[in-house]
Amino acid sequence: MAQDQASQTGAPSGSATAPIGASPTEVRLAAVTEAARFHSTELDPAELRFPPDQPVAAALLVEWIRGGGLWARGVRLRWKNLLKVDSSAPVVLLLNDGGAALLTQVDPARNLVWLRDPLATADQPSVPVDELRLAQVWSGETLLIRGLRGATEELAPFNIGWLSRVVLMEKHTLRDVCIASVALSVLTILPPLIVMQVVNRVISHESYATLTMVSMLIGVAIIYECFLGYARRQMMLIVGARIDAKLNLHVFRRLLGLPLDFFERHQAGSITYNISQVYKIRDFMTGKLLTTFLDLITLMVLLPVLFYISSTLTWMVVAAAGLLSVVIVIFIGPLRKIYGKIVQAEMEKSSVLIETVHGMRTVKSLALEPQQKEMWDRRTAEVASLRQQFGNLGNWPQTLATPIDAFMSRGVLLIGAYIALASPGSIQVGSLIAFMMLSGRVAQPLVGLARLLEDIEEVRASVGQAASVLNQKPESANPGAGLRPRFEGAISFEDVQFAYPGSKTKALNGVTFSIPAGTMLGLVGRSGSGKSTITRLLQGINREYEGYIKIDNTDLREINLAHMRRSFGVVLQENFLFRGTVRENILAGRPGLTLTDAVRAARLAGAEEFIERMPQGYETWIEEGSPNLSGGQRQRLAIARALIHDPRLLILDEATSALDPESEALVNANLQRIAKGRTMVIVSHRLSSLTDCDQILVIDKGAIMDIGPHRELVERCSVYRALWLQQNRHLESQNQRPAGMPALAHGDD
Ligand SMILES: Nc1ncnc2c1ncn2[C@@H]1O[C@H](COP(=O)(O)OP(=O)(O)OP(=O)(O)O)[C@@H](O)[C@H]1O
Ligand SMILES: [Mg+2]
Repeated sequence: MAQDQASQTGAPSGSATAPIGASPTEVRLAAVTEAARFHSTELDPAELRFPPDQPVAAALLVEWIRGGGLWARGVRLRWKNLLKVDSSAPVVLLLNDGGAALLTQVDPARNLVWLRDPLATADQPSVPVDELRLAQVWSGETLLIRGLRGATEELAPFNIGWLSRVVLMEKHTLRDVCIASVALSVLTILPPLIVMQVVNRVISHESYATLTMVSMLIGVAIIYECFLGYARRQMMLIVGARIDAKLNLHVFRRLLGLPLDFFERHQAGSITYNISQVYKIRDFMTGKLLTTFLDLITLMVLLPVLFYISSTLTWMVVAAAGLLSVVIVIFIGPLRKIYGKIVQAEMEKSSVLIETVHGMRTVKSLALEPQQKEMWDRRTAEVASLRQQFGNLGNWPQTLATPIDAFMSRGVLLIGAYIALASPGSIQVGSLIAFMMLSGRVAQPLVGLARLLEDIEEVRASVGQAASVLNQKPESANPGAGLRPRFEGAISFEDVQFAYPGSKTKALNGVTFSIPAGTMLGLVGRSGSGKSTITRLLQGINREYEGYIKIDNTDLREINLAHMRRSFGVVLQENFLFRGTVRENILAGRPGLTLTDAVRAARLAGAEEFIERMPQGYETWIEEGSPNLSGGQRQRLAIARALIHDPRLLILDEATSALDPESEALVNANLQRIAKGRTMVIVSHRLSSLTDCDQILVIDKGAIMDIGPHRELVERCSVYRALWLQQNRHLESQNQRPAGMPALAHGDD
């Protein structure tokens, strides 16, 4: 039966069975999207970059899928591999024509697989296909997609356990390092033992033959030591680099996933400092921890040999090393405390430096040099005095360690000599020399171990500091989740209450309004009334509000954050332009856009005229802080950047406030054009630039006073009228009624 069906339906082909007009690429994207949806992940085709006029390559698709938080791999399969697929999840077959089909089921018994056209409607069933027919359209390219098992690893809290897992992933290399270390320990112990033989036997028996043999042995041991040492260092390098790469990727990803308000609440300096603790922990784990561990291995090999030579002397050495460790441990705590203060003081010192360099314009223009210099001097003095304290205290353990050291090296020798004299034959001269050569290696591992115990405390503190940043709740638990609707641009707020974290007063208190798609909405109110807060909630920067915010009747919380922000355009008062050309700044790395798009956006933003006057036009280089642009030019570039992807919702928060009247007039003149076909939310202090808005929302102390067009507001809303009169008094004094100012309101003032 199935066989019959197969012959009736013929060979499947993504494009052949697809609705007319769908390109193979569209089929391919639909197949991947559907397969991803099976794992409850919505992929956004806007995130995929691919060259036009070519089938999307498997590697690009894999990257795209992984970006959505799934596991994906492009593989080449044969028919018999296909028959072994035993998962209910669809497998994507990339067809030769650039399209794709979904493998939904296999039937090894009848040598058939069932394929589905990704663009087919739900009522169209899968089609059975046999080997021959499939071979006509498919040459083996397959995409495997799975939910990410490691996803929990990504979200797992950052702590010692997590770090240990990262380190242990390198266990094979680490094992080799350990083997090399044991071998090295044996090799380093060997020469002293040989020396012992030389002195004991060769010299007393005058045997040249033995001497030659012994010399050769030592030579071979040295060569081995070189190689093993080289290999061990090399392996340590590799392990270190791998762990480093993993940490770096992880840390940066976590950082990017944090909500914006976290960065607003914490100083950049302290965030970077806390994060840099990660590297301290890494250094500890791959450095001290490992070295001490390896040293201990050496000790394990060494101690039996020493006991064999002379147990009395060994006990003395061990006791002295123990004493040394105690001295160091006693001082290490207070030293650390001072060192912590030094670090703190250095940080404050460098923040004076950074602040001064960044604010040099203000420092110069306000003649603040003496104050800054005094601050710097104070900080420098503080650091110097702390360093002095540190040095003073640090001198003690070194002084105390000197006699212990001397005892271990020379005292033990003297005691050994005494023992040799007191009971002849109990210890030979050669053995004594060998003992001296070896006993020097006992102290280091023991002292290292003692230090390690202290270090662990410090590392635990570092983990805490790093975790205070990295374990913050990310903006969205699963970046791939959430709806990705096509926005129209209708906005509604329903009784939205919001207070900033740590603030008792509500920034928004029962805000309710709604506007249809395509509205040009102005936001007006005194400074601090909550205008920017409304725009922030709209962008999903702050998510802890009460009430409902809906876009096109979809709850904001249900929408995929990245998708939402990509669909919106935002221009602020201060906009950051990246180092790069004008064109790159306007395109902002958006996939699939070209210079033509950049030119269109620039024209709409009124930026075209000055860009074309620039020496290299769109290829003009913009430096950090964009000093070669005026404020108005920078702002128009920012608007162009926001318009590049034709957003359905454009938010301008004081975008024109810092502009000179001419630039402002230029941008405002374009607003009507820009507003066409999209919803705009414009925050402005200058009411005159909002008179054209369809609706103006008047806010005071977080509550809505009124909403309506300018003409109505000026009549009925006292707050608005007061603001309007304030700004247009000059017109009044000239006995000119400002535009749109009804006679009724005129007499109020
Ligand atoms: N990041 C923040 N953390 C804490 N409180 C904030 C934060 N941003 C704003 N606020 C407070 O919330 C209230 C509303 O601020 P908002 O920025 O929305 O005012 P605004 O109307 O945009 O003012 P302006 O016209 O000066 O830009 C203010 O009282 C302000 O102190
Ligand atoms: Mg504001």
